[in-house]
Amino acid sequence: MTGLHLEMQRVHSIRLSRRSIAQYRKDMTRDKNTMTIGDAKMKTIHAGNAARSLAEQAGYSGTVEYIYTADHPEVLRWTSHFEGLAAREGVFEAFEAACPRSWRRATVVSALWHRFSSFMPWFLCQAAAMVSTNEKRHYVIQTAFEELGMRDAREIHCDMFWNAAAQAGVSEKDRAEVLADVPAATALASLRGALLSYGTDEEVLGILLGLEIPARENIETVFRSLAHDDGTAVALDAHRFFIFHRQIEIEHVRLTVANFVRYCRTEEQRRRFQRGFSNGLGFWSRFWNTASDLVGVPARAS
Ligand SMILES: [Fe+2]
Ligand SMILES: [Fe+2]
Repeated sequence: MTGLHLEMQRVHSIRLSRRSIAQYRKDMTRDKNTMTIGDAKMKTIHAGNAARSLAEQAGYSGTVEYIYTADHPEVLRWTSHFEGLAAREGVFEAFEAACPRSWRRATVVSALWHRFSSFMPWFLCQAAAMVSTNEKRHYVIQTAFEELGMRDAREIHCDMFWNAAAQAGVSEKDRAEVLADVPAATALASLRGALLSYGTDEEVLGILLGLEIPARENIETVFRSLAHDDGTAVALDAHRFFIFHRQIEIEHVRLTVANFVRYCRTEEQRRRFQRGFSNGLGFWSRFWNTASDLVGVPARAS
């Protein structure tokens, strides 16, 4: 990079930070629910950044946020509201009760999660294309970028996940056999259909939160599934895929709840968001029910 380029980049970043501060101040005066302006608020921003430092050490950084940080009262309030709605479904308790640790559970969840994870970049890019402003698109595309490995193609998440599954002993043949038994009307097909049917930004943002809200339960259920014995559990605990996801999912939830707080202010907007949210949540019910049904189907004799 030439000296001129570096200078242009420096001027550009100064402009950006001036604009961000001006916007931040504007938002602060507009939003009656935000806390005090000044030192206390800056401490809040720094606290939010510090909470992300472990993920940053692993090469991930949270989306820059000036208002709706993880400890913003509105973010906390709505996260707990939406988490409550998700918990009411009892999806994970039902799956754990029906499917104790087993090799079959490891192969089924490996196959289904890999397929889901391979599908998500398309879904997130499509969602980003559907929202109507670049600012909303900015917030939506962050997760797609992460799923695609950011600037390193060797870190595409579905591939990283398959590496973990392979470490647990699951083969391509196991995966093909599980997928051959998946019913034709899949949960993924209805998820795709729901997104494409939407006509408003709020529905799109809502389905993204519905998909993210049980992120921690999802990742732990996937972990317990692949960890079909104690030795595998120890090995997977140190696997890059699980280290990353145990850190970054918290930020995904914050980001998608912030989309609600930031963009859904009227009753009508909130109703539309809720419709998308229910579709997203409904997907998890179907996904884990399918997994449970497949675990109940005996594996084919090889
Ligand atoms: Fe991921
Ligand atoms: Fe996520």
